Amino acid sequence: MAAYQHITVEACTDHLGAEVAGLDLRQPLNDEVLGELRAAYSQHSVLFFRDQDLTPEEHIRFAQSWGEININRFFTAVEGYPQVAEVRKEPDQQVNIGGGWHTDHSYDQIPALGSMLYARQVPPRGGDTLFASMSAVFDGLSDGLKATLEGLNAVHSSRHVFGAAANRPGDLNSRLGNAEAATQDAIHPVVIRHPLSGRKVLYVNPAFTRHIEGWTDLESAPLLTYLYQQAGRPEYSVRFRWQPGSMAFWDNRATWHYALNDYQGERRLMHRITLEGCELGR
Ligand code: OGA
Ligand code: MN
Repeated sequence: MAAYQHITVEACTDHLGAEVAGLDLRQPLNDEVLGELRAAYSQHSVLFFRDQDLTPEEHIRFAQSWGEININRFFTAVEGYPQVAEVRKEPDQQVNIGGGWHTDHSYDQIPALGSMLYARQVPPRGGDTLFASMSAVFDGLSDGLKATLEGLNAVHSSRHVFGAAANRPGDLNSRLGNAEAATQDAIHPVVIRHPLSGRKVLYVNPAFTRHIEGWTDLESAPLLTYLYQQAGRPEYSVRFRWQPGSMAFWDNRATWHYALNDYQGERRLMHRITLEGCELGR
């Protein structure tokens, strides 16, 4: 285990992201390294690992060393591995998965903790992923708006994204399924207390948040639009350039992410394992 005594964690920006070096994710993690990784995850919200060479079994083992796996209802699984979702775009497909700012699973009353996305095949250029720090976004708001937001809850849903009535671009449909399972609605505070870091985090997103609880959609739209504009500011984000064997492990409660769709005519194939989370409170 000596190799494990020297992992390095290098922050990407002041707000979020860190590259972790010195670790072979195929090997079991000892408690000391796991502790360092947990601290880094809490502090940086998304960890990046390079040059990993993982089978689906090894990916699953790494995920299980962190927590319990959440089996995604809507994504096609890797054959033989229901725990591993495929995030795929073929050369002849136009639309990618996750091509707009969002956080995964906010439609669940107990949202997933985060995901471990592993790159198997990436285009020669393009297909980067952006991540944004939603605690930095909250910190950047005025005290008056912060106080208002802290008294609000928001309603989230999966129906309009994954359900039968979802208005999805056509060529995404073959990569998603199980529309009848898209019946989740959840209510969460607009500002959550992050379960690991204790920081206040803005917890609304353009994909799954429907409206502020007790407000109409029309009443909610101006406020949500303003918050989404702030969250999309480049100052709050970090951009990850993938290579085959790269892994990003993000925290859904602390970040948004955005998969850039700037690689038409190329294949991009990722394996994603999602971990179970906990109830979110103020
Ligand atoms: C996801 C997602 C981002 C990407 O898997 O949830 O949004 O870059 N993927 O593929
Ligand atoms: Mn996503």
